[in-house]
Amino acid sequence: MVESKTAAGVYFVGAGPGDPELLTLKGQRLIQAADVILYADSLVPMGILQFAPPSATCIPTAAMTLEEIIPLMVAAVQAGKKVVRLQSGDPSLYSAIHEQIARLVEAGITVEVVPGISAYQLAAARLNAELTLPELVQTIILTRASGRTRVPPTEELASLAAHKASLCLYLSANCVHRAQRDLLQHYPPETPVAVGYRLGWPDEQLWLVPLAEMAAFSQQQRLTRTTLYLISPALAVQHQSSGSLRSCLYSPEHHHLFRPH
Ligand SMILES: C[S@@+](CC[C@H](N)C(=O)[O-])C[C@H]1O[C@@H](n2cnc3c(N)ncnc32)[C@H](O)[C@@H]1O
Repeated sequence: MVESKTAAGVYFVGAGPGDPELLTLKGQRLIQAADVILYADSLVPMGILQFAPPSATCIPTAAMTLEEIIPLMVAAVQAGKKVVRLQSGDPSLYSAIHEQIARLVEAGITVEVVPGISAYQLAAARLNAELTLPELVQTIILTRASGRTRVPPTEELASLAAHKASLCLYLSANCVHRAQRDLLQHYPPETPVAVGYRLGWPDEQLWLVPLAEMAAFSQQQRLTRTTLYLISPALAVQHQSSGSLRSCLYSPEHHHLFRPH
């Protein structure tokens, strides 16, 4: 195991969006040393398990409840096993690690979280896109439309849209019509939307559509799950050679610690 500090009982490892090569080195080392690996088989690709030793017990958890998963982890740790819990993308986003960690800590088990690449980062990378362009957009919002999981009223999509930031919409393919209506309250209809389906998987698809067509397009492609929407004014101006859209960082007029006068 990676010994940066006292070894944890359970390592929550961000597996990235799909491509096993997007796993961190630390995540890979932990998987290579694991005795027991629990993974959400709905989103974590089997390819990640190629790093597991043949002796490791790999447990798919998509069909299990929290009440079934936690005792498995507790029993494995108490038996002295090295336990890895694989989460899709980055564990800080929509991963339900909070409830798992709370119960493990209650059981006296220590945990460590290893970050992963989130779906929005792969979408931006596929487009060679910077989502924070000087004077155009400097904020990224990561959110979801309200569905079975209620979004707090202070975070309603229409109010977030008012910022006209780069907005990454998770878990929303099933209510994309409502999402589009809310976003159009503030973003212009021609605002580009990157629609990413199963990014990093062999059947990955990535399209660019205007916001006004986001819902109809999703319906036409029958997108209901594993879809990320990236709505951003920055996608309209990527790679234009205009001098106005440049950062201070590399400007000859701008001086800083590493490039003094
Ligand atoms: C339960 S959340 C997990 C998010 C994950 N923790 C992350 O950081 O990407 C699942 C949602 O994330 C997005 N997502 C996760 N993996 C994806 C992928 N490979 N391609 C497109 N969207 C993905 C979709 O919006 C999907 O509905």
